[in-house]
Amino acid sequence: MSPFLLLALLGITVPRVQALTCYWGTLASVKNASELPLQWTTSRKHCEEGWSCQEVLMLMENGPQVYVVLIKGCTQAADHEDLITQHRAGPGVSIASYTRVCREDLCNHLSTSLPLWAPHPPTALGSVRCPVCLSAQSCRSAAELTCPAESTHCYSGHLLLSAGNRSTHLRVQGCMSQAGCNLLNGTREIGPISLQETCDSEAMLTCHRGVMLRTSQDLTQKPVTWSANTEQLCNRGEVCQETLLLIDVGLRSLLVGSKGCSKARTQDSQAISIHSGPPGVLVASFARFCTSDKCNSAASSSVLLNSLPRPAAPAPGDLQCPTCLSVFGSCTQNSDTVMCPKGTSHCYQGHIALRGALDNQFFMYHSERKMGKNSM
Ligand SMILES: *[C@@H]1O[C@H](CO)[C@@H](O)[C@H](O)[C@H]1NC(C)=O
Ligand SMILES: *[C@@H]1O[C@H](CO)[C@@H](O)[C@H](O)[C@H]1NC(C)=O
Ligand SMILES: *[C@@H]1O[C@H](CO)[C@@H](O)[C@H](O)[C@H]1NC(C)=O
Repeated sequence: MSPFLLLALLGITVPRVQALTCYWGTLASVKNASELPLQWTTSRKHCEEGWSCQEVLMLMENGPQVYVVLIKGCTQAADHEDLITQHRAGPGVSIASYTRVCREDLCNHLSTSLPLWAPHPPTALGSVRCPVCLSAQSCRSAAELTCPAESTHCYSGHLLLSAGNRSTHLRVQGCMSQAGCNLLNGTREIGPISLQETCDSEAMLTCHRGVMLRTSQDLTQKPVTWSANTEQLCNRGEVCQETLLLIDVGLRSLLVGSKGCSKARTQDSQAISIHSGPPGVLVASFARFCTSDKCNSAASSSVLLNSLPRPAAPAPGDLQCPTCLSVFGSCTQNSDTVMCPKGTSHCYQGHIALRGALDNQFFMYHSERKMGKNSM
């Protein structure tokens, strides 16, 4: 007999999963190493039912400076015991993290940087000297310091750290025990923080990154907000892109948007294309490529809507077609039949697969639509 059934027979109700209260706050800041260990207090927040409490502490040490990131809050990530990871061991630049996800009120109660911080015994110095810098701005006035004996190489790179909709660009110069652009040593994520690294100063372009998918009745008329809440560090030769695709079958419309880095060879350019209609099924797109930091910043679908042809309402013809536009589904149950406008001669039915967008994210959708023209 299941324990729940037994409890029910005994007249005991099983309590619902409690919503937790968690410590809540963030800190991301370059500190003088002499200020560590740090202590902090944070505010509290009531989480949604079923969510856990999370805490993440990341320390990046670089000579006299330490970059500290602290994130506390509610999360849907899987619970796990406290975990300390040394992502890049010193001497020289080092990165370590402490992460924990737990399911009790205020269990994310770490209040000092001590688990990750031990004062170092003085290290024997070698003969290599490197500029040492840790800054969200620039490293133009970096001091040159003598490296520890085992650090025989100078590192110079950029990190992009993103969590939720916030990201920080960090310039790093310092001593390392190996050559190359591998400060992160394979680390891509620390809890909710994603990390990217580049040492190619010409590949320093940052772009907005995100995908949007909307279906509604009036997307050809009413502009919708188009924002991307993360950023991406591009590879050498890439540019920023933003693309919107609109498909409208009259009773329903679909809008797909994508922002990110692109390998497109095009430099700065912007284009609106009308692939089909009107009259009949409308398929139109907006595509922009640009080459300055975060330039793919269109904030609304009006960049496309304002350029759509707006013919006067067409007179109805004598053709009737089933109409449906379905993402991730099929059109069998819910096709309404409509009277097609004059100038259309066929009913269109088909599937369109969209591919690309960002990395591995792609959409496929199925549609069966009214008012096909002869070609599409
Ligand atoms: C760090 O703190 C020490 C001692 O408080 C101070 O002497 C030093 O100038 C500080 N360094 C920086 C870079 O602020
Ligand atoms: C790099 O990562 C590997 C495995 O994650 C680890 O064993 C190694 O110690 C790391 N190297 C440094 C220099 O931190
Ligand atoms: C970032 O996300 C937080 C919570 O998820 C939200 O309150 C805030 O408005 C967002 N900020 C921006 C600029 O989107």
